[in-house]
Amino acid sequence: MKFFIDTANLAQIKEANDLGILDGVTTNPSLMAKEGIKGTEAVMQHYKTICEMVNGDISAEVISTDFDGIVAEGKILAAIHPNIVVKVPMIKEGIKAIKWFTDNGIKTNCTLIFSAGQAILAAKAGATYVSPFIGRIDDSGWDGVELIAQIANIYAIQGFKTEILAASIRNALHIVKCAEAGADVCTCPLDSILGLLKHPLTDIGLAKFLEDAKKFA
Ligand code: E4P
Repeated sequence: MKFFIDTANLAQIKEANDLGILDGVTTNPSLMAKEGIKGTEAVMQHYKTICEMVNGDISAEVISTDFDGIVAEGKILAAIHPNIVVKVPMIKEGIKAIKWFTDNGIKTNCTLIFSAGQAILAAKAGATYVSPFIGRIDDSGWDGVELIAQIANIYAIQGFKTEILAASIRNALHIVKCAEAGADVCTCPLDSILGLLKHPLTDIGLAKFLEDAKKFA
């Protein structure tokens, strides 16, 4: 399973990248706004900086909702760097645009996926990735990880090549459960990635080893 970091924060991207386990980055308009990035030039420059920091797929989301607008925006984003993946919302015009990008060799990430039906349609259009929003499904009283397992099963039966990118991850357990359920990628906040390191018995064990090491140092 690949690890992406789900942020537009350069310090957090650097920290995850320095671990040596990072395969890519996802952003969205909310994450870009959180960093205080304003204006087209600044947004483009920010994506370019991320692409130069991380050697992997970098999702950049369009904000248009009509076919012509999505395609025009996506072409500009894709021209920033070969690793840019155009992130497109799961709407009718978005599906048409994903098919256009597929036919024109531009990678896509179909975002805001909340059902298996949506994942089937995105795969039919040739999306490189689909992003089911695990945490938001859990928040609404349903089981996000179950959706990952359902999509993984359907894609395996049907032979779809689209990769399942588990998004809206809230904690380390989500990452483990998505790996078990067949996600190809997990995009995670830094805290959730670092949460995988933690176990109290590791801390207790290390403290004891270091204490005992003093006896022969
Ligand atoms: C990433 O591709 C998604 O936009 C992101 O994971 C959504 O996360 P949230 O539900 O925490 O906003």
